Amino acid sequence: MSEAAPAPLDLRTVLGPLELRSPVVTASGTFGYGIEYDGLVDFSRLGAVVVKGLTLEPREGSPPPRICETPSGMLNSIGLENPGVEVFIAEKLPWLVERDVPVIANLNGGTVEEYAQLARRLGDAPGVVAVEANISCPNVDHGGMEFGKDPAQTARVVGAVREATELPLIVKLSPNVTDIVAIARAAVESGANVLSLINTLLGMSIDIFSRRPRLARGKGGLSGPAIKPVAIRMVWEVRRALPEVPLIGMGGILTGADAVEFMLAGASAVAVGTGSFVTPSAANQVLDGLIEYGRHLKLRSLAELVGGVIL
Ligand SMILES: Cc1cc2nc3c(=O)[nH]c(=O)nc-3n(C[C@H](O)[C@H](O)[C@H](O)COP(=O)(O)O)c2cc1C
Repeated sequence: MSEAAPAPLDLRTVLGPLELRSPVVTASGTFGYGIEYDGLVDFSRLGAVVVKGLTLEPREGSPPPRICETPSGMLNSIGLENPGVEVFIAEKLPWLVERDVPVIANLNGGTVEEYAQLARRLGDAPGVVAVEANISCPNVDHGGMEFGKDPAQTARVVGAVREATELPLIVKLSPNVTDIVAIARAAVESGANVLSLINTLLGMSIDIFSRRPRLARGKGGLSGPAIKPVAIRMVWEVRRALPEVPLIGMGGILTGADAVEFMLAGASAVAVGTGSFVTPSAANQVLDGLIEYGRHLKLRSLAELVGGVIL
């Protein structure tokens, strides 16, 4: 007698008003605008492509060197190099629309008004299913302090983006804060539907022979497996404080097991960042691992894992 086929595993992922076909998305800034991974990734298995950070005007970014390896991770100070929102819409977005993959636009501004303008401009762009406001940007009206370091500044920028678009609003939190829950709460109270966490952790590395920092800018953002325990802790803290808010977890995810850990901590979806630099098809492999785990436990839906850590 032949073995019964495994029960189908439901991969659909509900993030408030945003429904994705799979819980695995790409992390902003590590997957370009998708075309860079043409032929390397099965786009039909991605929940969405979160594109590289966009600004109103084109930006050249930081001088090189702007990435370096560190133990179990990397530092970057790309400085938001991007062609600007108009070129993105005209020249980059159509390629993704042809692949029929949902697009999440990552927004970056120096002022509250810049974020709002970006959200307005992307609101009716084809294929864009949500915006993700990266609030780790320096606020030029506030002495250059990152929006996401202060609950009041977080509330201002999130409130302005909320007014500017009807698209689902994801707010991407900075881990470089003392109290992540205070920032998360400010974002949700100002209109965020979903929270993404975490962005990179501030770090620095020095070449002992030249005595110079290994990044031209000195400091940079640490990503990769080195930050995973910090990210898991933050996802768990936010989930515990705000259990009704859907979370996208990221930070060092290379395998399905990493993704399961994030989901047990409270993430409904996960993003693969630095992992795509190590293995271009990492996002697909993470989904394979999640499916294998779900089948092994005979789950009906991966959503059953969310927040399932036993304390
Ligand atoms: C080279 C590089 C560029 C990034 N650019 C952005 C960006 O433009 N906007 C953003 O919100 N996050 C950006 N990030 C942060 C990632 O999306 C992600 O939050 C972080 O790297 C942690 O995930 P990971 O350890 O899987 O890379 C960038 C990360 C890297 C490594």
